[in-house]
Amino acid sequence: MTTVLGFETSCDETGVGIVRDGELLADALASSVDEHARFGGVVPEVAARAHVSSIVPTVERAVELAGERAGVRLADVDAVAVTAGPGLAGALLVGVAAAKAYAVALGVPLLGVHHLAAHVAVDTLEHGPLPQPVVALLVSGGHSSLLRVPDLAGAPVEPLGATVDDAAGEAFDKVARLLGLPFPGGPPIDREARSGQVSIAFPRGKAADGTLDFSFSGLKTAVARWVEARRRAGEPVPVADVAASFQEAVADVLTAKAVAACRADGINTLVIGGGVAANSRLRALAQQRCEAAGIRLRVPRPGLCTDNGAMVAALGYLQVEAGVTPSPLDLGADPALPLVRSAARS
Ligand code: KG4
Ligand code: ZN
Repeated sequence: MTTVLGFETSCDETGVGIVRDGELLADALASSVDEHARFGGVVPEVAARAHVSSIVPTVERAVELAGERAGVRLADVDAVAVTAGPGLAGALLVGVAAAKAYAVALGVPLLGVHHLAAHVAVDTLEHGPLPQPVVALLVSGGHSSLLRVPDLAGAPVEPLGATVDDAAGEAFDKVARLLGLPFPGGPPIDREARSGQVSIAFPRGKAADGTLDFSFSGLKTAVARWVEARRRAGEPVPVADVAASFQEAVADVLTAKAVAACRADGINTLVIGGGVAANSRLRALAQQRCEAAGIRLRVPRPGLCTDNGAMVAALGYLQVEAGVTPSPLDLGADPALPLVRSAARS
């Protein structure tokens, strides 16, 4: 049996997960999201300090959960995996330092992993082994990327496209702010959109440019102009309709490009991950378009789409099984870790 303890601290979630033989035993989470709300975005220093105070209690909670579920104790852990990047430097450092401490104390290997690869790997906890290769659409507050993922054990991951400006989640957060909705903006926009009509034709940046890149800053500006015009005219802003129309524009571009990426490469499995993958319209439209194109869609449940420790433990487990060389104990946190391999070696 192989048991992996995973640490995720790249942004505002302190996540600790435990995976045994591909099965999720514990997924403990502490979030500093409330401390950032009044700033309308994650404040790096606040996030790093929150990780420092949450990390040990979150490990203890994860171990307690794994104990209740499967009688697993900390001493049963065979490897420690940690997000080495990309992310916020100070935040990453806390997780990397903690992971090293646990790896040394337990006398087990340390595995530094790539955050985006972990977002893909988490799907194996729900839907079993991934076919090779897959196309992954990763959309969160910090990233929007289309990737060709051959396997998760260390083979090169190929970037196919990415946002040229704002990340998809960032666009949700900024549009929510201008509609007077709380941070993070994805969930309240998703909720508002349910009672709204897709009645405003917002632009689809880069939709027809023939690339697999995205652009959301023009869309965000278009929403801001539209809302300002209503306010200047003294008319009420139909928040639900704006939310539904904005959300439709994002979901339309993301799913169209994801399907195009699969088609271009002749790949018939699409995995969607990252916080924005929790969006109900994105999930529904992706399902509809994948079905029409004969593509198998795999999206983890919303709780596993946002940042968590389970995803890191899941990727660590796959790497241990594949015999990936562990990271050295001087592993650094790399805020701009390139997505070349799912394992970070130095
Ligand atoms: O993956 P994640 O937890 O952290 C990052 O790595 O950024 O993603 C957080 C992002 C936020 O921008 C949040 O607004 C967005 O995911 N998000 C959503 C939804 N739930 C979270 N966006 C759209 N619809 C949702 N239901
Ligand atoms: Zn993420």
